[in-house]
Amino acid sequence: MGKAAALVWLLAASVILVKADEHTHTYTDNEEVVLWMNTVGPYSNRQETYSYYSLPFCKGEKESIGHYHETLGEALLGVELEHSGIDIRFKVGNPKDEFCRRLMTNDDYESLAFAIQHEYSYQMYLDDLPLIALVGEPDQSDPNGVILYTHKKFEIGYNGDQIVDVNVTVEGPITLKPNSEVIFTYEVVWKPSGVQFENRFDKYLDPTFFQHRIHWFSIFNSFMMVIFLVGLVWMILLRTLSKDYARYHKDDVEADDNDIGEDYGWKQVHGDVFRPPMFPLLFSSIIGTGYHLISVAFVMIALAIMAEFYTQRGSLLSATIFIYALCAPFNGYFGGGMYSRLSGKRWIKQMVVGSLLFPVIIGTVALTINWVAIYYHASRAIPFTTMLAILAICCFVVLPLNFLGTILGRNLKGQADIPCRINVVPRPIPDKKWFLEPWFIVLVSGFLPFGSIFIEMYFIFTSFWAYKIYYVYGFMFLVTVILMVVTACVTIVSTYFLLNAEDYRWRWCSFLSGSSVSLYVYLYSIYYFIFKTKMYGLFQTVFYFGYMALFSVALGAFCGTIGYISTATFIHKIYSRIKLD
Ligand SMILES: *[C@@H]1O[C@H](CO)[C@@H](O)[C@H](O)[C@H]1NC(C)=O
Repeated sequence: MGKAAALVWLLAASVILVKADEHTHTYTDNEEVVLWMNTVGPYSNRQETYSYYSLPFCKGEKESIGHYHETLGEALLGVELEHSGIDIRFKVGNPKDEFCRRLMTNDDYESLAFAIQHEYSYQMYLDDLPLIALVGEPDQSDPNGVILYTHKKFEIGYNGDQIVDVNVTVEGPITLKPNSEVIFTYEVVWKPSGVQFENRFDKYLDPTFFQHRIHWFSIFNSFMMVIFLVGLVWMILLRTLSKDYARYHKDDVEADDNDIGEDYGWKQVHGDVFRPPMFPLLFSSIIGTGYHLISVAFVMIALAIMAEFYTQRGSLLSATIFIYALCAPFNGYFGGGMYSRLSGKRWIKQMVVGSLLFPVIIGTVALTINWVAIYYHASRAIPFTTMLAILAICCFVVLPLNFLGTILGRNLKGQADIPCRINVVPRPIPDKKWFLEPWFIVLVSGFLPFGSIFIEMYFIFTSFWAYKIYYVYGFMFLVTVILMVVTACVTIVSTYFLLNAEDYRWRWCSFLSGSSVSLYVYLYSIYYFIFKTKMYGLFQTVFYFGYMALFSVALGAFCGTIGYISTATFIHKIYSRIKLD
């Protein structure tokens, strides 16, 4: 388990040329144990963080051992480790002792009071184990008073030569006053512990939350829905299609007097169904991006099931970027191949659009959020060098790999293989009832897929925005598969309705029908913001809605592509069975 993580980690680190700190996690007696201060931020929004020393805390006497080497993932996540200056030695206890003092000026007082009133807490790392502690608390007896904790007590559990457990308790409350001196103290207690090193992260996981009955129940529920849906789709299609075929071949069979030989429905549009969609370049780029995201999602879920990403800060993000770059050939292969089948001519342009479409969307949102973060001096502001690294990955890894995929796709899958000829003159699309209009079909199609995932969305949102580590990737895998099946069934049925209304614009319609689940997810995220979080302020709002929009866009591309793939397969099947004169 740990090995797979280490491998991905190593690969990611070597590709992006950012070397992680070497940690063997074993200590000799009296060896230095480094306590890293990470960030401070309001408890209600885990993602809004500022550097620890932006609050008027002081550093201990101990010499700093230089800045931590950040990995790409950490830099993007706003991890800012700084040395605490607290002297901790392996298995050497330390009674309560002063480590620094600071005169609180008026400004210092103001910022600390603000932080305490907004429930700020700070994060630390000791041997990669996260610690979190409150800065202080509002004074109950005095509405304007604030209480600051000045004493930190570290209880460290060791097993052999390894650290397996850390607790911090904050004590020493003082009523904070401007222009007073504050003395910060610390205490270290070492205890032998029976926890195994491999299991030392277990106490951060929350099985009662993630493996709650509701979670199991929702998966079971969605699963039943899938069985029901698949059965339903199968029956409808089998019955209607066989009836349709029979009617279509009525020349061979004795004529049925009920229909007067008038052809109707989807067969009428056989000369148009395989007509290229509007904006073929954009369409193939989006579908290519969808294939890309599907492959990334599957590889990442598989890796996350095998490797415990949560034991290594930022490793999930670093690995995702690495896998995203590595999966770029899928984008070119499917996007470029499709563009060629739609007889597009500007394939280089398609390749560039296809490979940069998603990165540009992410970049735009991230840069907008970055402006706000810089304005607020949040540690979330992405450093310039990190941006350059990401840009370099896009230009020198993603683009060439995509090029490779495009060449392959054009040569191996570039020939159109349509079962019906395309008429020269497009057929006019007849007027139809409002509930058969594409916009309505698209809107309705998102409903069932959303129903199958919204409980999972709650768990994912909660682990992203609150202090929970998501670790039940097996659940995530099941839900993803369920979502794919539901999306496929629903889009096939809705496209069948569309074609029966003699509207042949199924390509965009099937994509949008699949992707409309993301609209509902975004609406759900608004609900979640209002009722499930206590976020406030411009920064948190922009941050939340920006990243939720990105998530929804990615989900939309994912599900839309699933919808398109399944519908395309279905359409090829049914139209290759009708015999044309
Ligand atoms: C940390 O706290 C937990 C829960 O209170 C306790 O079970 C554990 O023994 C503590 N660890 C140490 C090293 O004191």
